[in-house]
Amino acid sequence: MRRLLPVTDLTTPAAAADREWTLDELADAYAYPDGGLPWLRANMVSTLDGAAQHDGRSQGISCPADMRIFGTLRGLADAVVVGAETVRQEGYRPARAREAFAARREAAGQGPAPAIAVVSASLDLDFSLPLFVSPLVPTLVLTGAAAPPDRVRAAREAGAEVLVAGDGAGVDPARAVGELAARGLTRLLTEGGPRLLGQFVAAGVLDELCLTLSPLLTAGGAQRIAGGPAVPVPERFALVSLLEETGFLFTRYGKI
Ligand SMILES: NC(=O)c1ccc[n+]([C@@H]2O[C@H](COP(=O)([O-])OP(=O)(O)OC[C@H]3O[C@@H](n4cnc5c(N)ncnc54)[C@H](OP(=O)(O)O)[C@@H]3O)[C@@H](O)[C@H]2O)c1
Repeated sequence: MRRLLPVTDLTTPAAAADREWTLDELADAYAYPDGGLPWLRANMVSTLDGAAQHDGRSQGISCPADMRIFGTLRGLADAVVVGAETVRQEGYRPARAREAFAARREAAGQGPAPAIAVVSASLDLDFSLPLFVSPLVPTLVLTGAAAPPDRVRAAREAGAEVLVAGDGAGVDPARAVGELAARGLTRLLTEGGPRLLGQFVAAGVLDELCLTLSPLLTAGGAQRIAGGPAVPVPERFALVSLLEETGFLFTRYGKI
């Protein structure tokens, strides 16, 4: 992996060299800001022609380096916020505790692994899955006040913590961030999917986007990384850093 930006780092030969980065180096490169929490970061992957999935999943457009960054971003987060459809399609499992991040997490006062926070209105989720019954830290379910009571009960019986973050059936994105922050979960990572990410964008609560640009063309009708209605005024982000490996670009953009 090579660091292409920030350019100033290229004066250090080791930083510019094409070599395998340790997880520790990646964790340093992607550290959350010291202040300004809560901080909501998204991690997504897209093909050159904007597809956010292939054959219904993101795996086919990812690569090993992308998965290392994916794991690093999880290793730094208090909670991973994810839409219910991604949980269903990608067969989400609980986050693991990883030795590489253990000391860093302890020093930051974090638990052994991030909590997974599933956003769902229907709660049409299989609560018998390991994600709900055997996570290292309890899985959270973010839903609206009008969620079906029997499904709320099923979630709680499985061991999930249900947080109400909306007055109707759905979750208000800004309120979801507030509910998590109120529980001390301030280093937030969303892994999408596109429908959920589009709502975070529309609500103006996304602070950072880590976007992997995958050197593939897929054509077809795949979703883009953010869906839903267009925002009236596009939000401007600044390029913070750029890494490269085997033609994949790992961008990090911060809201201006
Ligand atoms: N390229 C990437 O980086 C990437 C990342 C993630 C996912 N993906 C791909 O994206 C696809 C899935 O994404 P998606 O956009 O269709 O779905 P999604 O955003 O993962 O999930 C949509 C679901 O989340 C719940 N939801 C979203 N907003 C909500 C709100 N405001 N209030 C309450 N519930 C809300 C609803 O669940 P209920 O239906 O349960 O009410 C909704 O059906 C998959 O193919 C996956 O592989 C790609």
